[in-house]
Parts: sequence; C-alpha cells; structure tokens
Amino acid sequence: MGLILELNNVNKRFGGVVAANNVNFEVEKGKIKGLIGPNGAGKTTLLNLISGIYDVDDGKIIFDGQDVTNVPAHKRARMGIGRTFQTPRFLDRSSIEDNLKLGTDLFDQMGYINSFFGKKGSDYQHELEDLMEIVGFEVNWDDEISSIPYGQRKMLEIVRCLLSYPKVMLVDEPAAGLNKMEIERVVDLLNLGISRDIGIVLIEHRMDLVMSVCSSITVLNFGQVICDSIPEEVVNNEEVIEAYLGRQD
Ligand SMILES: Nc1ncnc2c1ncn2[C@@H]1O[C@H](COP(=O)(O)OP(=O)(O)O)[C@@H](O)[C@H]1O
Ligand SMILES: [Mg+2]
Repeated sequence: MGLILELNNVNKRFGGVVAANNVNFEVEKGKIKGLIGPNGAGKTTLLNLISGIYDVDDGKIIFDGQDVTNVPAHKRARMGIGRTFQTPRFLDRSSIEDNLKLGTDLFDQMGYINSFFGKKGSDYQHELEDLMEIVGFEVNWDDEISSIPYGQRKMLEIVRCLLSYPKVMLVDEPAAGLNKMEIERVVDLLNLGISRDIGIVLIEHRMDLVMSVCSSITVLNFGQVICDSIPEEVVNNEEVIEAYLGRQD
C-alpha cells in the first residue's frame, strides 16, 4: 500500500538525552499509525522532527517520495504535512474564524488563495460546514477562540488541519482532556481523514482509542522503537507491557 511518510534511522539528541535513537517509522496513506510510549519517550519529538520544527541530527525523512530532511517547517506544511499540538496552539486573542483560516493561509503562499476563496470560495464554506457538523457544536465565528472550552478548541485544531488538505496529519494526544462524546467526534474527524487517504500519526495514551482506530502501532521507549506491529501483537508484546502498558491503570 502507498507509503506517504518514511523515517530512516533518525537520531535526535538534546544534550545527554537521546530523544530519537535510530528510529525507523512508516506511515501509509489512508491509515492511522499509533505512536505510544511512556512520558518522555520521544513521541512529540518525533512529530517535531517530521514537521520540521526540529532538525534531525542524522537520518532521513521521506515524504510523498521526496527527501524533506532539510526542508524548513513552513515548506513542509505547504507540501502537506499538517499537525495538531498536545496543547492547542491558536492566536488566543483572534476570532475563531481567523484562527481557522490560518489553516487555509497555507495556500495563500502557494498562490492558491484566490481560487480557494474566490472561484472555489464556496468549497471552503462547504467544507467548513461539513466539518462543523462532525464536531457537533456551534460557535460564534467572531468570538475570541480563547472563549470556548478546551475540548472544543482541541477539536477545532483538527478541523483547521483538515481545512489545509494535508497528505499527512500528525495528531498529538487529541483525546486528553476530552469527554466521551467529544472523543467520539474526534474519531469521526480522524475517519474523515482516512476516507480522504490522509496518512495519520496518532499519539495517544488512551489505549481503547488507539486499539480501535489504528492499523499499526509504533512503541517508543527512551527514544527507541521497541515494537512496531499490528495492535493485537503490540498489546501482547512482553517488552511493551514491561515498558508501558503494565504501568497504566
Ligand atoms: N526542546 C527540547 N530541549 C531539550 N530537551 C527536550 C526538548 N524536547 C524534548 N526534550 C526531551 O526529549 C525527551 C522526549 O520528550 P518528548 O518528545 O516530549 O516525549 P513524549 O512526547 O513522548 O512525552 C524528554 O527527555 C524531553 O525532556
Ligand atoms: Mg508528548
């Protein structure tokens, strides 16, 4: 099946901490790859390396058939590497509308904005309406984004990402702090991504969620991949149980 992202022997150190230790990692189009492991294992670092926020010390990152190892973060975003953050990142004093359009501004720099808001402007509205129907709540678009609850902001971050039509979507702990109903909506958003053939990387501590949506799971411990397999094998892997699952309540 089509690979959209590939990390080859990627290394990253912070002083004495080895945050990525010879990591090999693959993401397929239209599939969700789970990324799990204890706190400090290097999960968020891996997303930062993929999105270009951090440079690798060595190793290669291949995205959509191209070597992007030395491509700066803003270009990788425009090429189709989208992400959300462990704690949502918005311009807190700006309106919900402006914050969501930041996603589509990626197109601005490519010169696509006219077609997006002009000729195809109705597509944007359409798309936004479809996505808002999935998240299942309404907003006043002019309100400051900081005025809405945390769970809703986290969901809107995924909406913003989807509005940029990414090829890869990196999602860092989307269920943390969300209630059961909100988590179901997040799953719906991820499934929409799947139906669009987006390759999704999902960092998540909730094993029920990881098990139900991921096609395969990579387990990190001290920056190292200790297991990379289908969910059923990962949960029964001794090393994974020892390092991570056994510790969960
Ligand atoms: N910018 C940074 N500077 C120094 N150390 C960092 C930085 N980012 C991450 N680390 C360290 O790298 C390790 C992995 O962190 P992180 O990727 O955030 O783990 P996880 O997301 O799995 O909890 C930790 O020891 C963390 O302290
Ligand atoms: Mg993290």
